[in-house]
Amino acid sequence: MIIGSKIYRFDEVDSTNEYAKSLIGKAPEGTIVLADRQTAGKGRFGRSWYSPEGGIWMSVILRPPQMSLMSIIAGIAICETLSCYGVLPVIKWPNDILLNKKKIAGTLVEIVDDALILGIGINLNIRSFPEELKDIASSVFLETKKHFGEKMIYQTLCRELDYFYMLLKNNQVSHILTKWRNYTTMLGRDVIVVLPDNKMLTGRVLEISNEGALIILLPTGKVERILAGECQLKLVK
Ligand code: BTN
Repeated sequence: MIIGSKIYRFDEVDSTNEYAKSLIGKAPEGTIVLADRQTAGKGRFGRSWYSPEGGIWMSVILRPPQMSLMSIIAGIAICETLSCYGVLPVIKWPNDILLNKKKIAGTLVEIVDDALILGIGINLNIRSFPEELKDIASSVFLETKKHFGEKMIYQTLCRELDYFYMLLKNNQVSHILTKWRNYTTMLGRDVIVVLPDNKMLTGRVLEISNEGALIILLPTGKVERILAGECQLKLVK
């Protein structure tokens, strides 16, 4: 297995992604940084990520042949892992993992030189969230009322990540996308996409490309290919 070729485990770090960055050039591919809690966990778009004890906070150093599919692979691996234990989440493009419409996991990909840091956060056994997150975030424990051992979930996740990473290395992209389609709620749905420059687009999701881009049909009839952004499902009137 490449994933977990070397493991750095901490009770506490600022951010496993930041620690992993400091290892680039010194650590082999597949090196994992794992922590019980983070004091400065990072989310996408410069947001902070609530990371107390009870979650899975980890980062992996990778050198994938195709960087853009990594967050999709991580999302699939998280869903496959939880599915092994009877928990059935869905993926909201590009990287939100939802259970009962609340976010229970996310991934943060950072590219440094020729390496990629894949950060994964799973709100596994977290019992409560700060007031400002309560409406949007939750944990597997809060949604299922079941406690799943962190070590067990972490080990399954490494296995699943390794499996899908090998598919990517062997250029079996169609198999990855088929899996992704099983977990997404977005195909054929009307969505609002907020682009990194805060521009908003509305359209219908047609497909996800082999590079992980969301392909949407705009009301004008134009087809747009979106590589990064945040997506909301449009409410049906
Ligand atoms: C997001 O959905 O905004 C991404 C969240 C990613 C959180 C994980 S927790 C482990 C790793 N270290 C970090 O600082 N962030 C990622």
